[in-house]
Amino acid sequence: MANILRIQSSAQTSERSITRKMGAQFIQEWIKTDPSVSIVTRDVAQNPLTFVDQSWIAAAFTKPEDRTPEMIERLKESDMLIDEIIKADILVIEVPMYNYGIPAALKAWIDQIARIGRTFSFDLSRGDVPIEPILSGKKLVQISSRGEFGFEPGGIREKMNALDSAIEACAHYLGVSQKEIYRVTIEYQEFKDQRHEDSKQQAEKKITRLVGKLIFDFDKRPKVANL
Ligand SMILES: Cc1cc2nc3c(=O)[nH]c(=O)nc-3n(C[C@H](O)[C@H](O)[C@H](O)COP(=O)(O)O)c2cc1C
Repeated sequence: MANILRIQSSAQTSERSITRKMGAQFIQEWIKTDPSVSIVTRDVAQNPLTFVDQSWIAAAFTKPEDRTPEMIERLKESDMLIDEIIKADILVIEVPMYNYGIPAALKAWIDQIARIGRTFSFDLSRGDVPIEPILSGKKLVQISSRGEFGFEPGGIREKMNALDSAIEACAHYLGVSQKEIYRVTIEYQEFKDQRHEDSKQQAEKKITRLVGKLIFDFDKRPKVANL
């Protein structure tokens, strides 16, 4: 059985939000082919998370055995969010472009789940790359929508794409390697013309293909005997 963690971050509700609609298509198509799938939804826009602050940082960087009850309490939210990631095989992140980057609500989630001792280790004896991810083997489906266009390499807004790079840079905290990031992107939303319609249609087709591929890959994973 596949476990999907669906992260929603559009400030708009499902009637208006393109990323929420496309995410719903992904989930519905998965269920149609594999009804045994388990889906956990985390809506960081409608249920905003706390921002990391001094008390969070102090708690996170204190060894677990030395934490005070207040520190343990402060990290409960982070622990719950990380536990959701650990249980997931596939993360579906629905992410609108806001001011050329990711919504603040999603950044708050990333800040909560990037945790020393839980999602990464830090060791200066590793030289210039002291951070190593703790989780591995997960896949990430990034479903994003933009009002403008041309954010791809060579596009007219190539240098303004702070969204894809933010997700890419933090994927290791999620246990996702660069080659396991799958992107579905809708553009031209603000132009509301044929280019937008074409972009949506292409995205819908891509989602159908991606669900097929990911279910196929999941089914042919080596089965580990329960000892
Ligand atoms: C606060 C805000 C900021 C936005 N900033 C950008 C932007 O920098 N670049 C862009 O191409 N589109 C921008 N847009 C357009 C959205 O990316 C677009 O409407 C997208 O469809 C939103 O996702 P949603 O439909 O799932 O809510 C912005 C929209 C909002 C509401």
